[in-house]
Amino acid sequence: MRDQWTRLPEAVRTAITGRTGAVLSVRAVPGGGNADFAATVTGSSGPSFVKAARKASLGQDGPRVRALRRETTTNPVVPEFAPRLLWTVEAGGWLAVGFEHVQGRHADYSPGSPDLAALAKTAHQLQSTPCPDAVVMRVERRWEHLVPDVAPMAGDALLHTDLNPYNLLITPEHAYVVDWGFASRGTSWVEIGQIIPWLIHAGHTPADAERWVAQFPAWTSAAPEALDLYTRASAERWRRRAAANPDAEPPANLPIAQRWAEHRNARAL
Ligand SMILES: Nc1ncnc2c1ncn2[C@@H]1O[C@H](COP(=O)(O)OP(=O)(O)OP(=O)(O)O)[C@@H](O)[C@H]1O
Ligand SMILES: [Mg+2]
Repeated sequence: MRDQWTRLPEAVRTAITGRTGAVLSVRAVPGGGNADFAATVTGSSGPSFVKAARKASLGQDGPRVRALRRETTTNPVVPEFAPRLLWTVEAGGWLAVGFEHVQGRHADYSPGSPDLAALAKTAHQLQSTPCPDAVVMRVERRWEHLVPDVAPMAGDALLHTDLNPYNLLITPEHAYVVDWGFASRGTSWVEIGQIIPWLIHAGHTPADAERWVAQFPAWTSAAPEALDLYTRASAERWRRRAAANPDAEPPANLPIAQRWAEHRNARAL
């Protein structure tokens, strides 16, 4: 659960207010999230979008602060995609970051949705953007515990790695991409592989989703065995997560990843 504004330490609220001006309203974003706090904060100088994360004990960066720091280094080098970074402050054992506020809506990835064109445009543009030096995380590292040989995932393309419909904010003029904390470098088909489960989640069959991504040369030219292995590894990732939390509701991503892996294996036979 994200911390509400009033539960933030006073030092953090004071530091944020120093950037936003006297706070008039705070509209928190629901959901678990990577950041401990995520909200539209309207101050005397207008609205901004604020994300904040608490450091681990002894003032060390924990995983959430590290993700937010990566977002601050990546944001300025992807200005064609991301809402602008306005400021960062550290106070009271927290890192807080202000972004340009986008008055947009989440994308709809269901079959026939006009937003699929915006997703395609964004993904094509990402696929043709050279990876900035500031993006240093290597995508294959995140698959090492699941795949015997991650070499096919390595590369030097810029990958957002989480183009889910909540990370695309659609306005009449532009589709903004938010949530850059896990941007990585790797081979470009991995980005497309990350999109497919979201298409299935939105109502595409695995076959329809695969047909849709056939517009990306990175996907169609990748070795089919590498893609098959990737789908199996995705399913295994979610299976392990579900097994680690046996009392919790199984994640919706698990049956989706399994359906996709089964579809590809059926195709490979
Ligand atoms: N600049 C922005 N302007 C307006 N709304 C935003 C902005 N950035 C993010 N949001 C909204 O807040 C939500 C959460 O933001 P984001 O995804 O960056 O948070 P996170 O905590 O890092 O990740 P997540 O909740 O996805 O795990 C987004 O889905 C979007 O709806
Ligand atoms: Mg997000």
